[in-house]
Amino acid sequence: MTVLKVGLAGLGTVGLGTWNVCKNNAEEIVRKAGKKVKIIAVAEAEKNKFTCLEKNEAIYFSDAMKLTDVSEIDVIVELIGGDTFARAFVIEALKKGKHVVTANKALLAKYGNEIFKTAEENNVTVGFEAAVAGGIPILKVLREGLTANRIDWIAGIINGTTNYILSEMEARGITFEKALKEAQDFGFAEADPTLDIEGYDSAHKLALLASMAFGTKLNLDKVLVDGITNLDLREVIYAKKLGYRIKSLGIARRRNSNLELRVHSTLIPESCLMANVNGAMNAVQVKGNAVGNTLYYGQGAGAEPTASAVVADLVDIARGDRKKMITSIPALSFQSDQVKDLNVLEHLSIESGFYLRFRVLDQAGVLADITRCLSNENISVDAFFQKNHLKDDIYTDVVLLTHKCTGKDIFNAIESIKSIKSVIEDPIVLRVESLE
Ligand code: HSE
Repeated sequence: MTVLKVGLAGLGTVGLGTWNVCKNNAEEIVRKAGKKVKIIAVAEAEKNKFTCLEKNEAIYFSDAMKLTDVSEIDVIVELIGGDTFARAFVIEALKKGKHVVTANKALLAKYGNEIFKTAEENNVTVGFEAAVAGGIPILKVLREGLTANRIDWIAGIINGTTNYILSEMEARGITFEKALKEAQDFGFAEADPTLDIEGYDSAHKLALLASMAFGTKLNLDKVLVDGITNLDLREVIYAKKLGYRIKSLGIARRRNSNLELRVHSTLIPESCLMANVNGAMNAVQVKGNAVGNTLYYGQGAGAEPTASAVVADLVDIARGDRKKMITSIPALSFQSDQVKDLNVLEHLSIESGFYLRFRVLDQAGVLADITRCLSNENISVDAFFQKNHLKDDIYTDVVLLTHKCTGKDIFNAIESIKSIKSVIEDPIVLRVESLE
């Protein structure tokens, strides 16, 4: 029987998961791939991680770059992370004619244009299913299952750490800091949690999704990114009162020949399926013009869920014929000569509903002053309530939901509202989406 020979770089959580899935499911994999998928070499800086592996016949390297010199290796699995060494390593592997499978979304979102071009020039492929939403095969969905569609939009909960934090803040009324600490203890937060909570991890994934959905170049720099670090528990509570939940969503939407690319806290109706994706789970909703609305749900992180995607890419490579692999299924879904550089809209021209909260002196006329500023910009109010935090407080929170308008309309209205004397703090502004 022929064998697909794999060089595995990195024995962290996902590397170990990949090793285990390849071993534990070896029989099932052979039946599906028609070949054995065998890890013949492992590179890992900490040797003890390698020596702990059971039934281990692989060759060991401390330096991953050495894997690119092993002529028998067909595929290199890059699970080291980071984007400096990993970039040089992946490019070198591709240039030496090796396929690459990686879970490294930051690397691909930043340097994907160069990496995919190098792969094509060298007639090899880059598998990266594990880079977006872990175990959910969303890239295969876009590349294959939904390929007949013109995709209208994608909205995803694509960071488990932020979803865990927001779900726990809502369910248990705990602080952001306490929920973050728990997420780190569970091990699904990135080593540097800033990437998760500031929205960059989701932005990396969104850039990849958008490129595959719309056939546009990878445009990480143009993704509007706003994390959850400034989100007050009050917003979570007030949203709930209005029948909404707050989720950190990655949204990519086609607007005529333009694109919206944004990651931010978003109010969504509590009745929609996405609002009920809790804990560290991920979900991606895709609207195609033929299929309509579709939803994909699963674990977005963790050793074996992510390894499930890594090994699926290995099986695809094992099944393919080396030449056909690259010509028949383009990694980014569109034929490379059809990839465009679509214009990405800036946030002032993006339309949505808005959630607004104002801290005001509780006195006659303040509400009329606020709504006058809104109506001057032609912004229509959809829902409203007022909440005194403490008994006998002279201040109160005024919360409004608006009908759809542009970021520019809201910006203008907020500028006028800030000059009202009885509005005592900077207003809070969040977007609202119906996901319909
Ligand atoms: N840290 C990520 C998350 C997992 O919380 O979803 C890997 O992308």
